[in-house]
Amino acid sequence: MKADNLNIPRHVAVIMDGNGRWAKKRLMPRTFGHNAGMNAMIAMARKAKQMGVRYLTVYALSTENLSRPREELDGLYNLFRKYFTKNVKDLYAEGAAVRVIGDITALPEDVQKLIAEGVANSPADAQFFVILALNYGARAEITRAVNAAISRGERVEEGDVSALLDTKDFPDPDLIIRTGGELRLSNFLLWQAAYAELYFTDVLFPDFDEKQFEKAIKDYSSRNRRFGKI
Ligand code: IPE
Ligand code: IPE
Ligand code: MG
Repeated sequence: MKADNLNIPRHVAVIMDGNGRWAKKRLMPRTFGHNAGMNAMIAMARKAKQMGVRYLTVYALSTENLSRPREELDGLYNLFRKYFTKNVKDLYAEGAAVRVIGDITALPEDVQKLIAEGVANSPADAQFFVILALNYGARAEITRAVNAAISRGERVEEGDVSALLDTKDFPDPDLIIRTGGELRLSNFLLWQAAYAELYFTDVLFPDFDEKQFEKAIKDYSSRNRRFGKI
């Protein structure tokens, strides 16, 4: 099928898993794998935009990941520092914006500040959004929403719940990709994933290149989404 005949998902969300195993295979520290993963993520964003995806959510750090060893977390924070000072500028230059979901208040203060600036300096008229899930956990997100609803003291409809989630400004993901071979969601977008198409691949995230992304989109394009209808 020609690329222009594809049914392109509006919102793709990616569980970028396998960085540690990729590094281990090379007898390198896990941070080396995260570094390679960040390069893969940047290339994937470019490809997604080029194919006409409008929202790309990337799971970069889960609430559970926060209990990993200090050294690995420090390596990840350094990558976030680099991304939010340098790499975001390339996004801006292409008219793309960066957004964040998750509770970033648990991250180092300087990282929080860089994230806030990265979001605030994004072009206002962006047509493409890279949404980073940082210290993101769906259960924590839903719990925050429930507490917000309780403090309002009113019953909620389904749409009200969606509007209280971190993802309130974005449509639900059409396609969720998980690299690294595990067949689970690991607390990612549990509410929003209700009717997402799921795509799993054994490819470790640093090896998930533009061809692999295109393969996932082609697979999505061939699916029949019924949403419970006949
Ligand atoms: C995913 O890769 C990236 C993060 C969780 C930050 P992992 O670090 O989980 O890599 P594996 O699963 O150990 O290979
Ligand atoms: C999910 O990967 C989180 C991210 C990719 C950021 P994990 O490696 O943390 O997931 P589990 O522990 O295998 O479920
Ligand atoms: Mg993992």
